[in-house]
Amino acid sequence: MSYDYLAETIEKINQLRRDKNAVILVHNYQLGEVQDIGDFVGDSLELSIKAANVDAAIIVFCGVKFMAETAKVLSPNKTVLLPVFEAGCPMADMADVDSLRELKARHPNAVTVCYVNTTAEVKTECDLCCTSANAAKIINSIPQDKDIIFLPDKNLGANVEIMTGRKMILWEGFCPTHMRITEAMVKRKQAEFPDAVVIVHPECRPEIIAMADEQLSTGGMVRFVRESSAETIIVGTEVGMIHRLQKEAPDKKFIPISEQAVCMNMKMINLTDVLAALENDETAIELPDDIITKAEEPIRKMLKLS
Ligand code: 13P
Ligand code: SF4
Repeated sequence: MSYDYLAETIEKINQLRRDKNAVILVHNYQLGEVQDIGDFVGDSLELSIKAANVDAAIIVFCGVKFMAETAKVLSPNKTVLLPVFEAGCPMADMADVDSLRELKARHPNAVTVCYVNTTAEVKTECDLCCTSANAAKIINSIPQDKDIIFLPDKNLGANVEIMTGRKMILWEGFCPTHMRITEAMVKRKQAEFPDAVVIVHPECRPEIIAMADEQLSTGGMVRFVRESSAETIIVGTEVGMIHRLQKEAPDKKFIPISEQAVCMNMKMINLTDVLAALENDETAIELPDDIITKAEEPIRKMLKLS
């Protein structure tokens, strides 16, 4: 984008967000240019809380579909725009309602906990929702005599099992972006920067978590770098996070474990798409009323416990 085109696009976005009473919510993995125009940039939990409480007619959600659906479920009377409708989450698409119903039938004593990275339809079959920021807390709230079905992320599930000491029935899903981070990559970066602190996302495999100093949600990473005295931080998550962290702590050095940890879906939205969404209102999330009502329950229970 040329400088003039960029400046003009941002000006039009600013004008439209004022005229239409719109708020732009942005996930930490989005392109830097999109993060920079966000009214609020955050992790899944922070964005859900904002979506539930924000005072605006329109929410432009710059993230992936399950996040925009969650915003719609929490604010059904608002227009929720996802600027690129094809921006899905491959992990969320690994869980479907029919297979979940079959699994639940085989485990009638189980409480079903879904990661927020699930479709609204799948959430209708769940008792509780969680994000990477509160997963251990949510699991700890479940009585010991209950079995737990956890979906769809087998890595987050395994990491929460270690944190809580609670065995769960794990779905076979995973995040392809975080799966790209290997032990060899972590070892290489640790050898290159021996004084650095290593922070990773809990969607990484348990072997990676075991090598790290901290496992944190993306919002947790922001808080960590604000408070940490470490000068160099090795970061194991989607690379968009580096832009966010560098803005929070400009004097620190951030090293991605892998430049290839890119979520193509998170990178689908650019400023032209945000402008087009605001101009045309064409990319609104629509969900049937019964899905909104049923999906709201596990999400609200999570917000209450968070
Ligand atoms: P956070 O909730 O930590 O931001 O992670 C969500 C996620 O998986 C985005 O893909
Ligand atoms: Fe889904 Fe992974 Fe992309 Fe997050 S980073 S949206 S979990 S595929």
